[in-house]
Amino acid sequence: MDHTSREAAYFAKRLKELNEGKPKLLLEAIIKENVFFLKVMAEHAKFIGHLLDPSERKLVDQARDFSHDFDQLLFQAMDLDSMRPQSETTPILNQFLDRNRVSVVSLRNFKKSAKELIKDCKIKSNIHPLLADHVFREAERFLQIIDMFEASLKK
Ligand SMILES: [Fe+2]
Repeated sequence: MDHTSREAAYFAKRLKELNEGKPKLLLEAIIKENVFFLKVMAEHAKFIGHLLDPSERKLVDQARDFSHDFDQLLFQAMDLDSMRPQSETTPILNQFLDRNRVSVVSLRNFKKSAKELIKDCKIKSNIHPLLADHVFREAERFLQIIDMFEASLKK
């Protein structure tokens, strides 16, 4: 519930910003958006791991590895946030986005195959197909945001 309400608050805030035409400070936004989405990704990995049947050992292990990986990335993002403005240089932020992208791509692929396995009733879990689709689409959205930030750093 906490996870879902944070996503709703994020969406409402985004609509408000769009309505007001408020330009966000790019460098600060890069770190803050990544903190938000890395936490969401870490939580997805955790609840996927919990909702899979324990007999799906390989998938549970993979979900646990993603959980650890995204916790580490989240801590790194929080480190950068606490080190602003010195951490807001283009080379540091480029490297930060590249590193995050690698992990999000592999989590997105994991979610995509889990989503298909769930839809085809090939694995045992308590994951609703709509939830599997939701977490997949959120990873896709995070990748779009990373690409958008990377493109604006090049300008
Ligand atoms: Fe979510």
